[in-house]
Amino acid sequence: MKLCMIGTGYVGLVSGVCFADLGNNVICVDKDIKKIDLLLKGKVPIYEPGLTELVNKNYKNKRLKFSTNLKESIKVSDIIFICVGTPTKKGGSSADLSQIFSAAKEISLSLNKFKIIVTKSTVPVTTGDQIEKILKKRHSSKKFSVVSNPEFLREGEAIRDFTYPDRIVVGSNDNKSNRLMNNLYSPLISKGAHYINTSRRAAELIKYASNAFLATKITFINEIANLCENTDINVEDISIGMGLDKRIGGRFLRAGPAYGGSCFPKDTKAITSTADKFKTNLSVIKSVIKSNENRSNLLLNKVYKILNNKVKNKKITFLGVTFKANTDDMRDSSSLTMIPTLSKKGAKIRYFDPTGFKKEFLKIKNVLNIDNIKESVQGADLVIIHTEWNDFKSINFKNLVKGKKFIIYDMRNIYSPTKIRNQGFKYYSIGR
Ligand code: UGA
Repeated sequence: MKLCMIGTGYVGLVSGVCFADLGNNVICVDKDIKKIDLLLKGKVPIYEPGLTELVNKNYKNKRLKFSTNLKESIKVSDIIFICVGTPTKKGGSSADLSQIFSAAKEISLSLNKFKIIVTKSTVPVTTGDQIEKILKKRHSSKKFSVVSNPEFLREGEAIRDFTYPDRIVVGSNDNKSNRLMNNLYSPLISKGAHYINTSRRAAELIKYASNAFLATKITFINEIANLCENTDINVEDISIGMGLDKRIGGRFLRAGPAYGGSCFPKDTKAITSTADKFKTNLSVIKSVIKSNENRSNLLLNKVYKILNNKVKNKKITFLGVTFKANTDDMRDSSSLTMIPTLSKKGAKIRYFDPTGFKKEFLKIKNVLNIDNIKESVQGADLVIIHTEWNDFKSINFKNLVKGKKFIIYDMRNIYSPTKIRNQGFKYYSIGR
């Protein structure tokens, strides 16, 4: 099939490349000329394991193209995927849909034959209805169909998540588009992926409800971890004990710092804002947002306690600053709250992240990027393991440190407390 992906951000690029790999002809379009130039040179602007190889393979076999010419790309395609950003509106909590509607207007101007217009971006309930309205101003409804096909890709695992999805959700209000979408996904369906067809509005809500539920699960275990710390219980026993109940499931029950990234914080806010618009109070999700926003301060209070409330001039090393491992993404990472706060209190901060220097800390006083683990921890008073990169999972701390031993605060529960304490380190972790 001939596909056009509007927007070569995370969603558009990963999905476009993966669709090309399944045998489709895909044009990835972006108005950012620099981005397209990079891609034409075989360079991928985002950090995602395996993506560069897949881009180059499919570009060479000519199934994948990159362009800035939106009009032409729309004209030659059968299915148009809208993959533009839907960030939180400035000063509010609802999603900013301006890029979605401008894409819909562009499509309307170049609609030369029947096309399916698919929203892959995360969009609030009724966005599909609004896109349909825009198209109906110029075209008969026989000439197009608007479908919702949310993505469930995780950063760092995106190619695997696309290739082996738990489910494919297609929200369409007509049979023709459902048939064509089912056909598009048939290589994945034949390998066992569940394909479900719902109303368009239901598909839009499935995406938000899924992200909000996962965020709730994490927040729930984070609060249970707080209780574990006060009752001398290991939260990991709780996660295993709860997770083995099939009704609960063990995934996304890892306690840690506040959840971050480009999706959970934004989507939890957007779903409550949509619900408010429809006079529905999503009080559970609202308290999840509050609890998560408070979590960085909670962990900072623990840092102060570990340092006996003497933060000034303390040397603190962060191992990992991204919101999770296998990504260079800093969006809503809890390190963005922790590092500036500690810096304000006079701490001297060094950080090492496998994805290198972060511009976010450029203007923060006394924050230094170090490009190797060993140097980053030398002379430290406290080492905070903030992100669960594999690089940090088998550090021999004893060999690493000369002279004075530092305190370790493992916010990802990577290490066994007894093992590390037996090596003579003071060790703290989450909920145990
Ligand atoms: C999330 C969803 O998992 C994807 O299904 C969805 O497609 C994506 O958002 C999106 O809407 O685009 P992502 O933001 O890449 O994916 O990252 P996750 O792996 O879900 O992690 C989010 C946050 O939760 C991270 O800060 C992570 O450290 C934290 N987390 C995750 C925990 O603290 N504990 C866990 O057990 C799992």
